[in-house]
Amino acid sequence: MQAALKNYDDVDSWKTVMFLYNAALKEVGTKLDILNDEFQHVHSYNPIEHIKTRIKTPESIVKKLKRNGHETSIENMVRYVNDIAGVRLICSFTSDIYRLAEMIGKQSDLKVLSIKDYIKNPKESGYKSYHMLVSVPIFLSDSVVDTKVEIQIRTIAMDFWASLEHKIYYKFEGKAPDYISQELRECADMVSALDDKMLSLNEAITALAGERYTT
Ligand code: GTP
Ligand code: MG
Repeated sequence: MQAALKNYDDVDSWKTVMFLYNAALKEVGTKLDILNDEFQHVHSYNPIEHIKTRIKTPESIVKKLKRNGHETSIENMVRYVNDIAGVRLICSFTSDIYRLAEMIGKQSDLKVLSIKDYIKNPKESGYKSYHMLVSVPIFLSDSVVDTKVEIQIRTIAMDFWASLEHKIYYKFEGKAPDYISQELRECADMVSALDDKMLSLNEAITALAGERYTT
């Protein structure tokens, strides 16, 4: 992105940067819609239950820079804040998550910058989700700017857990009473058990439906 922004002190820099993140969000959102439609067309099945997109607020960008010990500047925000443009994909089954991650990885115009698999390695809190940091080229009239987008992929159950945990975290400013953190961890185990059960049930249903069609 550096090339497009010749001077970060420029009054218009902020607007230009936000314009690029908005464009990146649109590009990635459309790409995912198309992948979902194609999957429906070929396999009569939608791996994506729904898509949420958001741009980080200026307050939240500044807070994150401060939290990580960086001065507030547009240059630092572009370099260090990876989730200014964020897409969340909610799926029914854990298998959908890996299927989507693979499809995203194969898109030749997306560059996968990093992957964090908090499903195989959940966070201490119990948080589970699959994170991909990608960059997408934004074609402007006289240049092409690679712009970062954070993609979070999770099941409906993981999303339910993460939204409650997020609410509690904010309510207690990161210091929730021990028994609440403990119960949340227990809920995270229940989420995993539910996801496993729903996946195996779905596989059993699909196998049965397949048998019916062939007989
Ligand atoms: P952040 O500074 O929180 O963005 O984390 P990070 O830069 O180390 O990246 P990470 O991949 O760990 O987390 C990115 C995003 O995942 C966060 O902004 C949240 O949206 C989500 N996330 C990560 N950990 C948790 C968690 O414990 N609980 C919830 N509810 N969300 C989380
Ligand atoms: Mg974040």
